[in-house]
Amino acid sequence: MTAKKAIIVLSTAVAFAIGNVSVEAGSVPPAAKKSGLTFAKDINPIFEKSNCYDCHGGKKRPKAGLRVDSVEWIKKGAKGEPVVDTKDSAKGSLIQTIARVDEDDAMPPEDKGDPLTKDEVALVRAWIEQGMKP
Ligand code: HEC
Repeated sequence: MTAKKAIIVLSTAVAFAIGNVSVEAGSVPPAAKKSGLTFAKDINPIFEKSNCYDCHGGKKRPKAGLRVDSVEWIKKGAKGEPVVDTKDSAKGSLIQTIARVDEDDAMPPEDKGDPLTKDEVALVRAWIEQGMKP
């Protein structure tokens, strides 16, 4: 390999390592330590930037029958099926999909938005554990 090629390969690897702050597939990170989390202050900005409301908001018919743009809607679930397990914050499709436990069901879907970072998933998990305050 030429020196120039080596530099390109190396810098690509470094860029990948730095850029790769999204969650590891197959695991839900532990809840964040931060207290006093609310939907309005902490969760809404994350969902907004992750394009959730394009598909699970009030603009068009929500995908999977699920809206995630308020606590009330999240509690209503997907066609009546709960998306949050209040007894175990690592379970429930909301946390499982944003943690990309199964890449096939990951949210936002591939190419439809940036994956949440590990810290963001940890915040959502902590918010669930704190009783999903609006
Ligand atoms: C481009 C559209 C799109 C975006 C953006 C999107 N979703 Fe989804 N979502 C879907 C579709 C479609 C499904 C139905 C399952 C499937 O086809 O993967 C779904 C399913 C889900 C489910 C599973 C519901 C169940 O049946 O238990 C959850 C939870 C969910 N989405 C949350 C989110 C969250 C949170 C975000 C933002 C981080 C998000 N989605 C972003 C389209 C989207």
